[in-house]
Amino acid sequence: MKPRPTRILLIDDDPDDLDLVRIHLAREFPDLEVRQVDDLEGFERALAGPPPDVVVTDYHLGFADGLDLTRRLHDKDPDLPVILFTGTGNEEVAARAVTGGVDDYVIKSPRHLARLANSVGRSLDLANEKRWRREAEHQLDDFRHQFAQAQKLEALGAFAGGIAHDFNNLLTIVRGHLEILGVELGERVKSSDSFREIDRAVESAAGLTRQLLAFSRRQHLKNETLDLSETTARTVRMLARVLGESVSVHFEAADEPLPVDADESQLEQVIVNLAKNARDAMPAGGDLLLRTLVERRATTAGDSREPWACLSVADTGVGMTPEVVERIFDPFFSTKKPGEGTGLGLSTAFGFVSQCGGRLEVESEPGGGTTFRVLLPLADPMPAGVTEPGAEVVPREAGNRGSKRTILVVEDQRALRDLIARTLRKEGYEILSADSGAEALALLDGNRNGIDLLLTDVVMPEMSGPQLLEHLRRDGQQPPKALFMSGYSGGAEARYSGLDPEMPFLAKPFTPAELLRRIEETLG
Ligand SMILES: Nc1ncnc2c1ncn2[C@@H]1O[C@H](COP(=O)(O)OP(=O)(O)OP(=O)(O)O)[C@@H](O)[C@H]1O
Ligand SMILES: [Mg+2]
Repeated sequence: MKPRPTRILLIDDDPDDLDLVRIHLAREFPDLEVRQVDDLEGFERALAGPPPDVVVTDYHLGFADGLDLTRRLHDKDPDLPVILFTGTGNEEVAARAVTGGVDDYVIKSPRHLARLANSVGRSLDLANEKRWRREAEHQLDDFRHQFAQAQKLEALGAFAGGIAHDFNNLLTIVRGHLEILGVELGERVKSSDSFREIDRAVESAAGLTRQLLAFSRRQHLKNETLDLSETTARTVRMLARVLGESVSVHFEAADEPLPVDADESQLEQVIVNLAKNARDAMPAGGDLLLRTLVERRATTAGDSREPWACLSVADTGVGMTPEVVERIFDPFFSTKKPGEGTGLGLSTAFGFVSQCGGRLEVESEPGGGTTFRVLLPLADPMPAGVTEPGAEVVPREAGNRGSKRTILVVEDQRALRDLIARTLRKEGYEILSADSGAEALALLDGNRNGIDLLLTDVVMPEMSGPQLLEHLRRDGQQPPKALFMSGYSGGAEARYSGLDPEMPFLAKPFTPAELLRRIEETLG
């Protein structure tokens, strides 16, 4: 980026003096942008305009006193260097100049023009240093803030994860005994209101622990290089459904590719969280604009402005007061009624974005809407073969994805297995299904080469998913590609079930769309 020119403001009501100084300074500082002021009106305009880097002013002006003008300039920017250039040089003027906050004092005569140039040069150096220091301090504060926030979240995440884990075990016991009670005491009890209420409460508690787990689960991110515009476009397509009709959603994609290293489903989650917040802030409806673009931000102290991949999410909602903005990334901070918000949306988003080495910025005003910016480091260019970013990703027509490919579905839960099979058949895949590893092997015996993909649960009685794949490998034949599904987060389970963390993995619960996407990715 081209550095902006250095600006000097010359205040003098004698046109000859103005010319003299301007010509001389222009020779000494070729990049200088000079603004001349010779009356009060001009001064007011200059004060409202772009800030100068240094001011040279006459002392006795027809329309004002140079020191008064200095005071007004310093009201606006206390660090602005001001040089008094005056024909009336005496000790009294010098003393007044010093107490009046003037940086230097130069006698107005052709002989002193060189000294004026020196003084301007010195003032500019000083001002640059001050500006640089202020910027560095600002960035340091920013960094400290982000770091403290991330630390708070990490501690809380570990704590929440521990609680969720123990809580889940307790819930399993409660649920198990409820079932036993139902059987022992018979239908009358089972269909009673109290029994149903308990059941419902256990369900919500399970939902809450799932959220806690999601919140604490940061170590299992699966990073890949993806295009920010593409992921956003895909998410936007389903947003309309999530947000309802009163919000109209717009998306503008960047012209250039925006490769980022991130976990795609987490990124989708961030977008959905931001969009849902926007909808909640627009109870009477409004516009939601998502844009992807390159934003420049300083990463290191100094003037360097690094490009970031940016997703901005702007709404026309109620906005926020500075006091609310101050707290929105705090876990469990919510202004919503109990039951309508947990206050984890933004803190989870913040955690994810920080973990990617990015940052989450917000701009908001009561009544003036809100804009969030997700800034992610630009990754190396996408590997060839990836869809052009910004290009509309056209969903393929239903029914033709799976043409002639065969998937073996192994899942011990019948209802889920049937649902998966139905979804995949609709897309044109050939489906074989089994409720256990043993049944799968039996099925495969006559059919070995016809399988393109093994889609299997991880934890099953008798033979686990990874063990099933191991069996297929041991048989010496080319094993099919495999995609594992599980209700756990992946980490702990991988350790206990022998699942290779590099294996394609799909976390339950998943939507049919996610299932199809993962299958296509795995099949390549
Ligand atoms: N776009 C927005 N406009 C106005 N206020 C917002 C916006 N986004 C967030 N907020 C404020 O920030 C608070 C925290 O948001 P966050 O997403 O973390 O939690 P929540 O939406 O209240 O609950 P959850 O997302 O867990 O269901 C909100 O309660 C709301 O006050
Ligand atoms: Mg929210």
